[in-house]
Amino acid sequence: MLIRLLFAPYTCMGAQASRVETTRRVVSTNKIKGLIMRGYESLPEVIGKRLHELKVDPKELCLTISADISKEGLFGERWLLVNKERLFVLSTNEEKASLDYDLPLSKIKEIRAEPLVGNGVLEVRTKEEQTIELLHYSNALERKFTRVATKIQKIIKNEEDLREEEDEFEEDHCPNCGLMLPKGTKVCPHCLKKGKTIKRLLVYMKPYRQEVFIVALLMFLTTALDLFPPYFTKILIDDVLTPRKNIRLLIILVLVLLAARLFSTLFAIIRGRILARVGMNLTFDVRSELYQCLQKQSLSFYDKRQTGALMSRVTRDTEQLLSFMVDGIPFFFVNGMILIGIGVVLFAINWRLASLVFIPAPLVILCTHLFWQRFRVALHKYWHRWAQIGATLGDVLSGIQVVKAFGQEKREIHKFNEKSGSLMQAGIEVEQLFSTVFPGLAFLTVLGTFIIWYVGGIDVIAGRITLGTLIAFLGYLGMFYGPLQALTRFSDWISRALTSSERIFEIIDSQPEILDAPDAIPLPNIEGNFEFKNVSFSYDKNKPVLKGINLKVKSGEMIGLVGKSGAGKTTIINLVCRFYDLDEGSLSLDGVDIHKVKIKDLRRQIGIVLQEPFLFSGTIAQNIAYSKVNATPEEIIRAAKAANAHEFIMKSPDGYDTQVGERGKRLSAGERQRISIARAILHNPRILILDEATASVDTETERQIQEAIARLIKGRTTFAIAHRLSTLKDADRLIVFEEGKIVEAGTHEELLRKKGNYFNLVQLQRKLSQLKAVE
Ligand SMILES: Nc1ncnc2c1ncn2[C@@H]1O[C@H](COP(=O)(O)OP(=O)(O)OP(=O)(O)O)[C@@H](O)[C@H]1O
Ligand SMILES: [Mg+2]
Repeated sequence: MLIRLLFAPYTCMGAQASRVETTRRVVSTNKIKGLIMRGYESLPEVIGKRLHELKVDPKELCLTISADISKEGLFGERWLLVNKERLFVLSTNEEKASLDYDLPLSKIKEIRAEPLVGNGVLEVRTKEEQTIELLHYSNALERKFTRVATKIQKIIKNEEDLREEEDEFEEDHCPNCGLMLPKGTKVCPHCLKKGKTIKRLLVYMKPYRQEVFIVALLMFLTTALDLFPPYFTKILIDDVLTPRKNIRLLIILVLVLLAARLFSTLFAIIRGRILARVGMNLTFDVRSELYQCLQKQSLSFYDKRQTGALMSRVTRDTEQLLSFMVDGIPFFFVNGMILIGIGVVLFAINWRLASLVFIPAPLVILCTHLFWQRFRVALHKYWHRWAQIGATLGDVLSGIQVVKAFGQEKREIHKFNEKSGSLMQAGIEVEQLFSTVFPGLAFLTVLGTFIIWYVGGIDVIAGRITLGTLIAFLGYLGMFYGPLQALTRFSDWISRALTSSERIFEIIDSQPEILDAPDAIPLPNIEGNFEFKNVSFSYDKNKPVLKGINLKVKSGEMIGLVGKSGAGKTTIINLVCRFYDLDEGSLSLDGVDIHKVKIKDLRRQIGIVLQEPFLFSGTIAQNIAYSKVNATPEEIIRAAKAANAHEFIMKSPDGYDTQVGERGKRLSAGERQRISIARAILHNPRILILDEATASVDTETERQIQEAIARLIKGRTTFAIAHRLSTLKDADRLIVFEEGKIVEAGTHEELLRKKGNYFNLVQLQRKLSQLKAVE
């Protein structure tokens, strides 16, 4: 029933399809929004026709989803349709839709969306253990297809829930035009307001006004100088070479030509050098502003975005902007000026010949345009394959141990060769296209020259123009078509650069969610009294993580947080550090609402040992001193000793100068943990947070660290989380969490006596350790 209702606007499709000629879909934004929400996208008429032929009732489809990569791996439209019994994949073009797959759902064992690097693939595993790649989609649609796979899986298992969240598919679309947004950005390339972005870029140029003016002037001069030589050649031929006299003029002309070339070279050098400086400074400004904004963002900002995508904003997008500023804009101006300049000169010399010059021009423009359209597709395919290789390589190399352990080298080699082979094919296509079209274009260009040779030649013979005029003409002509070809590519270039800038501005403009309140209170000396009143919190609005938490923590108290994995222990700590803001209720620190405390004051007085200790590449000493930049070596060693790290540090040949490697991967997990404890100790905080601080160390080391921690927690408010419950025995109070709620609180002994959740957890662990002991 619901399906029918949702599908109502398209019920006419099957019957009327044959009468409708156009295949274009005209769908208003609202319609797209309304339909995509639940996985129904409006179908093109050609699909309606095809479904009619296949005797499939479009009203019974429960999923109609479009993908953006064609069967051939190019950008193009493909459709995935599912009804209660079958799954179809169709390719469409303007005239028809062809059926690629028609699978009964009963044959499908599993369906999944596999992310690759540049794209993703929707894969089916049949009950006969056969894998079928149903379709590919660009990264922009990754989230959509992940959900689609889940949904189909549900349909297969007959557990599809039609009461799904309202905005399930909506957020991927531009609210303005309804088109799919590229992944990880809210910038719609379609709706991009070019004028506004250019204006903003100009603001960045402001500090370099003088340089920009000089560069523009130099470009103008260079262009003017470049226009000299053919004209002087004309004088040379007409006044010196043809009459065979006037050596003085010859010398002057050669000198003038030499000087023109010399100055134009000189100007080009100066221009290039200034531009390099301006361009680099400009990107430095943009990049550093971008990085500052990234540092300011709250954790929720990072939760929603991929690190890779953010990195590409700082690296690739700023680089694109640089190349546009340094190469693109001057290229455009110089070529534009040359074109205008030459056009004017040509008409000034001889308007009749000049008008002939323009005969092949439309052809050159048209061919270049067409070529780029095709070339772009081929290039996309090529990059796409590169991305696939990247994905395979990244995946396999990081899991090389697994490959070797299961003896799958041959299979991986085969898989790689397959991908590499398709890259080769795409590469051949790109190169061949290039090497066919460019000589072709060059030929078209020369065509104009032939016309001028012929018509101009006749004019010379008839004495209507001089030989010099003809030669000058041909000279200008040689300079004319190149810029013409180049300028047809400019719109492509500009739209890419503007999209990059817009993606950069998107980050610069996004307001951090966690900010100091305007009336924030400085708390230079925190005592460490916390009070949670009816606190509720969720990372995603559909899934509450903490529900109605009430908890009072006194200054200097050690609180142990226990509970099953995913119960919300780390989340409590995230709220204490104000990494996230609460949804409901209040959290106060020393009687002040935590939202009113200056974030800097709060974080400065918190020492935290994270569940997954993170070290930066550098030395051990640098990592310990991360919390206190000006720490003396003595302080660092004292902290390391307290964390029980000193001994193992001294055993390595470089001691405190040992390089820890990227993310500290050259140390063992236990060693990393001890260094991060030392870091927290050195910080000397009022509030100490230990999230599984001793999870990766052996019992003996744990005991030693426990002692260190016991010394450390004196007089500080401490939140400690541990799965190994024995670790928390000495806590003043244990808080037991279950599914985001506090279910018990009390000391170790009290809770044991109570024989509730904590008692059960302890019993369970005892049994497990006994089992281990028996083994
Ligand atoms: N950044 C996040 N975005 C969305 N959901 C999250 C995020 N971090 C945690 N969650 C979810 O919140 C719930 C509670 O997570 P939390 O990290 O607080 O559990 P935990 O009690 O610390 O578990 P563990 O003992 O395994 O560390 C989990 O269901 C988890 O999936
Ligand atoms: Mg945790």
